[in-house]
Amino acid sequence: MKIKKAIIPIAGKGTRFLPATKEIAKEIIPIINVPMIHYIVQEAVEAGIEQIIFVTSSGKFSVEDYFDRNQELEAFLERNNKTKELELIRKIGSMVDVTAVRQKEQLGLGHAVLMAKSMVGDEPFAVLLGDDIVINEKPAIKQLMEVSLAHAGSTVIGVMEVPKEDTAKYGIVRGEFLNDRTLRMNGMVEKPKPEEAPTNLATPGRYILTPEIFEILEKIPRGAGNEYQLTDAINVLCQRKSVYAYKFEGERFDTGNIHGYLDATIDFALKDPETREKFIQSLQHRIKKYGIKI
Ligand code: UTP
Repeated sequence: MKIKKAIIPIAGKGTRFLPATKEIAKEIIPIINVPMIHYIVQEAVEAGIEQIIFVTSSGKFSVEDYFDRNQELEAFLERNNKTKELELIRKIGSMVDVTAVRQKEQLGLGHAVLMAKSMVGDEPFAVLLGDDIVINEKPAIKQLMEVSLAHAGSTVIGVMEVPKEDTAKYGIVRGEFLNDRTLRMNGMVEKPKPEEAPTNLATPGRYILTPEIFEILEKIPRGAGNEYQLTDAINVLCQRKSVYAYKFEGERFDTGNIHGYLDATIDFALKDPETREKFIQSLQHRIKKYGIKI
């Protein structure tokens, strides 16, 4: 079955980006001039997703607005013969069908996903978290869709290898490898200490889920951090059905924290021919200015 809908939960407070997130949605903070959320939505659209369901909270209107048409701005650009900019703005406004549902209390990722139940209906769907940008020719979520299709429409969780000492920052999966990249999962552990982690395969926020997850999310108690955890629901599902994990291909930037955000900014500035040369000059100048030895 073709996966047409993607849930993108964006209701969190974004405390790691304070003070900016006091007034701006974290998702709108740009990497150079493109908001972080643009890359997430683009990944979904390139994978064939036709409808994005944002799970939002107060102060997140700008994310919905970003993907809407802006007639006033378009008219201004047209009047001033800014053709290239006009084309770009129109393209973003017609990128994909966007809807939003509110999460009135931030009770965790599992709770956020549950808020989109009535909009998803009875079909498999994708979930993408905005904190991780994954760059790859074939979108990471598309890779998971293909694995799901190959396994009778099963649940598939995107995973990546992390250094053993970092397991406490992630949900970590356990299971048996079926081939180089695919595992049949027998569970997940939320943020285990390195010595207790079953593997070093972390879940950076790419999922293909089936509607059965909603029924589980409705029943599970609060878990770690007193929140409703998607991890707990996936664990229940693992007891009932075959659930797979897939080591997707792609370069991943953890833009949910300042260091990962800077790393992505530097990478994108070096990769783009329009910014590369001047950026290298700036870097050389600053390195000299601060007497940094590299
Ligand atoms: P995070 O734990 O990264 O939270 O949530 P956050 O608020 O975005 O950022 P920090 O940690 O305070 O800096 C992971 C994703 O799940 C969403 C967040 O918006 C983020 O995209 N989320 C989390 C919700 O939508 N609702 C929740 O109740 C919790």
